[in-house]
Amino acid sequence: MGGVFGDTLRERRRFVLPGPGGRRRSRMPQPRMWKAAVAVHQEPKDLYDLGEMPPPGHVPARMHAMTIRPERYGEPRRAFAREIVPVPGVRPGYVLVYTMAAGINYNNVWASLGSPADVVAARRRAGETEGYHVGGSDGAGIVWAVGRGVRGVAVGDHVILSPGDWDERADDIRTGRDPAASRSMRAWGYESNHGSFGQFCLVRDVQCHPKPEGMSWEVAGGFLATAATAHRQLFGWYPHTVRPGDPVLVWGGAGGLGSFAVQMVRNAGGRAVAVVSGEERAAVCRRLGAVGTILRTDFDHWGRVPDEDDVPAYTAWLAGVRAFGRRFREVLGERCDPRIVFEHSGADTLPTSLYLCDNEGMVVTCGATSGYRSEIDLRFLWMRLKRLQGSHFASTADCRAVIGLVERGMLDPCVTSVVGFDEIGEAHQEVYENVQPWGNRVALVNARAG
Ligand SMILES: NC(=O)c1ccc[n+]([C@@H]2O[C@H](COP(=O)([O-])OP(=O)(O)OC[C@H]3O[C@@H](n4cnc5c(N)ncnc54)[C@H](OP(=O)(O)O)[C@@H]3O)[C@@H](O)[C@H]2O)c1
Repeated sequence: MGGVFGDTLRERRRFVLPGPGGRRRSRMPQPRMWKAAVAVHQEPKDLYDLGEMPPPGHVPARMHAMTIRPERYGEPRRAFAREIVPVPGVRPGYVLVYTMAAGINYNNVWASLGSPADVVAARRRAGETEGYHVGGSDGAGIVWAVGRGVRGVAVGDHVILSPGDWDERADDIRTGRDPAASRSMRAWGYESNHGSFGQFCLVRDVQCHPKPEGMSWEVAGGFLATAATAHRQLFGWYPHTVRPGDPVLVWGGAGGLGSFAVQMVRNAGGRAVAVVSGEERAAVCRRLGAVGTILRTDFDHWGRVPDEDDVPAYTAWLAGVRAFGRRFREVLGERCDPRIVFEHSGADTLPTSLYLCDNEGMVVTCGATSGYRSEIDLRFLWMRLKRLQGSHFASTADCRAVIGLVERGMLDPCVTSVVGFDEIGEAHQEVYENVQPWGNRVALVNARAG
């Protein structure tokens, strides 16, 4: 049986993934007990270096973490700093994980800026005491300690962590509400603290998913949040699920969400037209299975719908959005509009999305990169029987589905670059400036690149 160190060493060699990371792999049993898995003989210490593993069963008092504090709110480059902070205590129902790798996501750009939400102040209002935020909503690691009542996961398990932090005992969930819509739902590592940018992170048991045996830490830590969110958007809102032949417009087709959306549409037999801001990203989308691409830089009608009284502005907007629609049809090769519009770009694009969406089609959104105050012309919504659907993260079933698809090689995890722990701030700065590499990015925490 591969021990924890054995797995780590083997996985160190898989540093940057050039292509699809999921060959068909068997589900080997994972180590359950430390004694069987680890050969570590250090004396217990108060604090360990990154990559240094404490003796089995020992939870140190302190850890290295990349934190954000209100006094540093601003651009990610200066908002993030490496600090030594207490290791979070394990509460009933919670799991302490020794973090191996952590995904870089857009939400910690928002956390850095302290806007539109001040995450530290919000938690303090809810009674939490920490004056800092340890972000990180994607991650993978080794279960280090479990609280009372934890189910389905044991010390020593290798797990992929999901950001869906909800309380399965909450009244609304027990009476049938979708957990993603539960009052108890928090985006872990954004709304809740102790995310994957710490040597140890704290999650609920429901956030832990078995890591496939052959999957590297870098891949395991870098894809779940975007893959599961995209899966929910495209397959979770019946009857607007992708069917063979469906035209689908995907904004940001080479981004974290978009690169999965393009592949999922292709896998379902749909036709994805991806919007991007450069030729290199367009080529990526075509490689991932888009039937065509649109350069958004060719258009300039973005943002709110102008007042009709402002005739020149309204006419210009209408001309812009119609030209964009014509480009969509040209690229698709058919006089057809998108049955589904895959949204997350927000204020700049939502009016266009709603206009362009086919009659009885759906615009499904999970984000607002360009701004969350949007204005739409409601006539396009009701007179054409369109649906504007909010979608937030995913279900446990979505998580298991996308992990399985990556494991079987049916979904490229698109973890295209790996950064060091101290580069977490800079990596978020690149996301903020939209100059990040395509796909998903991961930071090494306790895992080491070989
Ligand atoms: N609610 C949830 O559960 C959830 C989950 C994941 C993500 N999100 C949100 O979804 C958004 C995208 O996440 P991501 O991980 O895909 O980010 P990402 O990797 O940075 O990709 C976003 C893409 O959006 C495009 N974009 C940026 N500004 C744009 C604009 N003004 N108009 C049109 N396209 C624009 C960029 O592509 P081009 O420049 O090439 O067009 C970029 O590649 C973020 O706001 C994030 O917070 C929400």
